[in-house]
Amino acid sequence: MMMKWLKLILIAPALVGIILLPAFSQEDMEVVDDGGFSKKQRPPAIFRHDEHNEKAEIEDCNECHHVYEEGKKLEDESSEDQICSECHDEKGSGNTPGLRKAFHTNCKGCHLEQNKGPIMCGTCHVR
Ligand code: HEC
Ligand code: HEC
Ligand code: HEC
Ligand code: HEC
Repeated sequence: MMMKWLKLILIAPALVGIILLPAFSQEDMEVVDDGGFSKKQRPPAIFRHDEHNEKAEIEDCNECHHVYEEGKKLEDESSEDQICSECHDEKGSGNTPGLRKAFHTNCKGCHLEQNKGPIMCGTCHVR
């Protein structure tokens, strides 16, 4: 009897995890996925998507999820259905920065410009 309960206690959290997993979305995002990088030198950067954008008062999704046509950003279009690495490969080409630079320019660029938000390596890539 005791063993049965013990098993249940051990298995229950795993089951909850399996049930919740498919529902994960930007609402639950805690870090930026680093799956697009072949070598990972740093822990993934902290980024609580919705909370961040609310606090930072960013209105337009295309502040980050942009679409360009012939070098011009389209004001009324956004690309949140695509992850950054779909357009930014690791090397980059022409005016399209490589993936690492794309993230750093986007994230740090705005933090520097607004003088808010982290700019030190270890405050984004938290061990
Ligand atoms: C400050 C930048 C920023 C803003 C503003 C922003 N996002 Fe994102 N969003 C990201 C980043 C970074 C990712 C992760 C992309 C990646 O993995 O390459 C992401 C991922 C997503 C995803 C994919 C979620 C997932 O779990 O894979 C969706 C959907 C999304 N954003 C929707 C939105 C919508 C809708 C808005 C506007 C209301 C918005 N985003 C505004 C940065 C931003
Ligand atoms: C649909 C394709 C596409 C997606 C998705 C995309 N980009 Fe881009 N991005 C481009 C192109 C094309 C350029 C080059 C623009 C030019 O010609 O100047 C660019 C330029 C940039 C630049 C440099 C110019 C600028 O706006 O500051 C940064 C930084 C950048 N992207 C970051 C990101 C980030 C971060 C994401 C994910 C949240 C992302 N991009 C998603 C296509 C995309
Ligand atoms: C358009 C501007 C802008 C962009 C783009 C942006 N940030 Fe921020 N970020 C801010 C501002 C403003 C704050 C300060 C918010 C406050 O007042 O607490 C902030 C705060 C943060 C913080 C501190 C904790 C928090 O959530 O408040 C982290 C971590 C962070 N940003 C990570 C990122 C990452 C990672 C990216 C790129 C994927 C990014 N930011 C892109 C404006 C931006
Ligand atoms: C504003 C937040 C922010 C700051 C500050 C920042 N990064 Fe990043 N960095 C990111 C994001 C977002 C990515 C995309 C993938 C991820 O989550 O690691 C990234 C990716 C990387 C990558 C490629 C992925 C990997 O793990 O190898 C390296 C290397 C890196 N950063 C190093 C640095 C170094 C070194 C500094 C300080 C000079 C720094 N970063 C500062 C947000 C930041």
